[in-house]
Amino acid sequence: MGELMGSRKKDKCKKSKHKDRKRSKDAGDACEVTKGRVRAHFLDGNTGPWAKSLAAQESQNIQGARAEPSPRDRAETNSTEATAASATDRTATVTPTRRGPDYSAPSSIDIVADPVLHALSTRRSISKVDPETPNDSDLLEIIRSISSVADHKSLHPWRFLIIRGNDRNRLGDALDEAAGVVRKPGETNTKPLRAELLLALVSSPVEHDKVPEWEQHVTAAGAGHLLELALWQAGWGVMWRSGTLTNTEPVRRLHRLTDHELLMGWFYIGAVPERYRQRLTTSTRPLPKPEQFLDTL
Ligand SMILES: Cc1cc2nc3c(=O)[nH]c(=O)nc-3n(C[C@H](O)[C@H](O)[C@H](O)COP(=O)(O)O)c2cc1C
Repeated sequence: MGELMGSRKKDKCKKSKHKDRKRSKDAGDACEVTKGRVRAHFLDGNTGPWAKSLAAQESQNIQGARAEPSPRDRAETNSTEATAASATDRTATVTPTRRGPDYSAPSSIDIVADPVLHALSTRRSISKVDPETPNDSDLLEIIRSISSVADHKSLHPWRFLIIRGNDRNRLGDALDEAAGVVRKPGETNTKPLRAELLLALVSSPVEHDKVPEWEQHVTAAGAGHLLELALWQAGWGVMWRSGTLTNTEPVRRLHRLTDHELLMGWFYIGAVPERYRQRLTTSTRPLPKPEQFLDTL
């Protein structure tokens, strides 16, 4: 019965296509919209048999195109196999295809002329910064500007810790303790000394019935990326660093983390060295091809 519905709807689409161009396009669009709705219902778990076979077909096409099927595709295939086994009279008659994005209309967005988009697209990490740093009041303004980060239910699950001066040696000691490194008297771990100012990012999720922990970590990571962009735009150099020792006990203890919290690494901050500035004005680092980051279902 479900499959018959599918066949009829498909035929209707075909017939109207032969009448005239305009009606054909409208009918085609309507069919696409219907297919999209059905698929959305299917993925939400409430669907009739026609929707299942439609989505299953699409899932098979996608699997054919991919070397490794995604877990969701696998789940769809499994559910399709179960459906097929219990209703052998049904055969798939609709063959939806993945169409991919449509780039035929030109964009009105200019990432060179727009200062914000330009800053976004030219941002670089500066691995070796000069000693001058923003003061704490500057940092407060930077934090003010990034506190717009997308945050489900405004839980504010992130904070930064300022690490300057001797606190950097305390961080070095904690990293050594975590790694089991014992140094000679007077020797020190120089890694945290690569900048005069470090900001540690703490992701601090809270219990919430609508916002799972992973979403809150995403917000904290977003704050980290915005921090890099804001500092870049304000003229400062920064590099985000972490490592395998980041969430070890001695390092967590130093940052006073509670059990649910995660240390997301440190931002090494300072002035952009003059030689870097020179290089940045002339060097071209091509951006990765954006097509690889965009697709349709
Ligand atoms: C969470 C996170 C941790 C990182 N940790 C390190 C690190 O420990 N060492 C490192 O060399 N780069 C690390 N990176 C990468 C650099 O910050 C930087 O993004 C990379 O060198 C590429 O340079 P770019 O930002 O100019 O593209 C990390 C990036 C992120 C997002």
